[in-house]
Amino acid sequence: MKRIKTSFLRLKFLSLIWVLGPLIMSGAGIGSWGMCFGQTKVNPRASWFTEARFGMFIHWGVYSGAEGVWKGEKLRYDNDYAEWIYYRNRIDRDEYLDLLEKFQWDNINPEEWVLLAKNAGMKYVTLTAKHHDGFALWDSQVGNYDIGEFTNSKRDIVKELALACKKHGLKIGLYYSHWVDWEHPFGWDHTNEIYPLTASQYDHYWQEKVMPQMRELLTNYGDIGLIWFDMWIHHSRTIVTKSQLLQLKSMIRELQPNCLVNSRLGLSVEEDPDVDFRTLGDNSFGTMKLDYPWQSPATVAHSWGYHALEDQWKSSTTILRNLISNVSLNGNVMLNIGPRANGDVPYEIESRLLEIGAWLDRNGESIYGAGGFDLEKDQHDWCLITSKESHNSHQLFLHVFNWPLDNELKLTGIIDKPDAASVLTSAGRQPILFDHNEVVTTIHLPAKQPDPLVSVIVLDYPRYPKSRTDLVAESLSDGYAMTPTNSLDYEGDIFVERAERFGSIPGHVVVDEKSHYTWKLYLDQTGHYELDLSYSYQGTSGRGEITVEIAGQNLQSSMNHTGKTVGEPGNNWHIESFNAHRLGQVVIKERGYYTLKLIIDPPEEEQVNFQWAWMEKDER
Ligand code: GLC
Repeated sequence: MKRIKTSFLRLKFLSLIWVLGPLIMSGAGIGSWGMCFGQTKVNPRASWFTEARFGMFIHWGVYSGAEGVWKGEKLRYDNDYAEWIYYRNRIDRDEYLDLLEKFQWDNINPEEWVLLAKNAGMKYVTLTAKHHDGFALWDSQVGNYDIGEFTNSKRDIVKELALACKKHGLKIGLYYSHWVDWEHPFGWDHTNEIYPLTASQYDHYWQEKVMPQMRELLTNYGDIGLIWFDMWIHHSRTIVTKSQLLQLKSMIRELQPNCLVNSRLGLSVEEDPDVDFRTLGDNSFGTMKLDYPWQSPATVAHSWGYHALEDQWKSSTTILRNLISNVSLNGNVMLNIGPRANGDVPYEIESRLLEIGAWLDRNGESIYGAGGFDLEKDQHDWCLITSKESHNSHQLFLHVFNWPLDNELKLTGIIDKPDAASVLTSAGRQPILFDHNEVVTTIHLPAKQPDPLVSVIVLDYPRYPKSRTDLVAESLSDGYAMTPTNSLDYEGDIFVERAERFGSIPGHVVVDEKSHYTWKLYLDQTGHYELDLSYSYQGTSGRGEITVEIAGQNLQSSMNHTGKTVGEPGNNWHIESFNAHRLGQVVIKERGYYTLKLIIDPPEEEQVNFQWAWMEKDER
């Protein structure tokens, strides 16, 4: 165990990691920027992208003919990325191309993919013009490894898609695997870690294939909205040089000044502010608000290319939650379809896309052109909040995943009173009632949730609403959950521990000397409140003291030995038990702001593992 004598900020940072998992993004200052609501650092070139929020990714190519299985053997890698089958299953090059015989060219119509994107409420479509297998989906004049060479009437899928996008008003994006190329003798193949390439061989590939092919894509297909590169490690860790990446980027700037470039080019937004947006890891969603544009690439199950054995489909609600959560942090989602070798989109994908599209029809104003708001990401456990400025007013959109049975929700932290509240329905906005008290807006809901997937409450404000983020918001379980994460400050010597053993040991702080934590609350109801504390104490001395101070009242308790519990039977999975202890009741005589202070004074040579404090109104 690592001992951390930590400052308050350090605690905040560590607790963020504890709660949110690996921090995959960090903010940074970038060049000169325009301004849009909730998101300040957007260069004008990228404003359509932050407005759009939702796009389609299409993985389709020779590999689609294999469907994730080669000669009866499933793809050799648990991530099930079917588009990797050539590499993973060590397929012979000629045999790989035999897969093209499975393609039903008469049935393949990229316009159908575009129409599906449109019906799904997506605003752009990104096609794998060339994936790692090196096979070009356009009629390339560079080399002879492209679709034009293998189709009788010379198909050019990039062209067909570009025309369809134009016709239906969507932006087109092109995925181009610049780093990895399994076709060119000097393209990067991971086995080159064992059988190396020289820098000049690699540059040969770069100048002979990457540059001229990219020139074709940037010249022959009209306006390209974005080029989506795919190098997920930093250039310093592989063969590509920064100057090659800059050569490529400057050609894009020269030929298509409005075209966006993603960070998987191999240059981060921090390293090169001219990179337009950050791409997160595959199926990684945001954890914190960023000012500059970013995007999560996501799948409906696992594989990107069509995989016959796929069986873990995410629900539409799960996908929507990811989209809403990203937008609430100023991010985008690009959701993938993997059509089959006859062009058809699997039912499991198509049906979810249409369901999401219907949701966006009803609720899209909370997504398109919307961004994050000032409240903390997890301040409320019952909603994700997006915000937008329109028609000279400001809206907050509260996305409710779990309609409360008591038909009431409390939004904490907005100082301004809304002008109006409504819910979004297929028949438009329906007004609802609300009360506003200092910093708590109580929303009275209709008994029936308006949307079967995620219902949206809209609050309209005459101006940008002022807020405060230092308050513990009322939880969905009708009380106040106070954790080290949302405490305002603390003093003491602590260890920060993340949840372990699949969460059976919850996240907690280790207290081995007198420590205190404080939280700020706005209590909008008078009466008796109960206080509980969850901790594990394995000591036996029975000494030590826990004190809670609020509203001039003190609750005190000694430590109770909590013992152990079994996580799973028969596995030696014996873990400390974290139990809730009732500390007692306090009386709140007036509505208002309160500071709650928790003091934990463990016995000498012993420790207490503190998890949370809970305060709840006694309704009896
Ligand atoms: C990874 C994979 C690739 C997939 C991409 C999508 O980079 O190598 O197969 O296209 O992620 O984000």
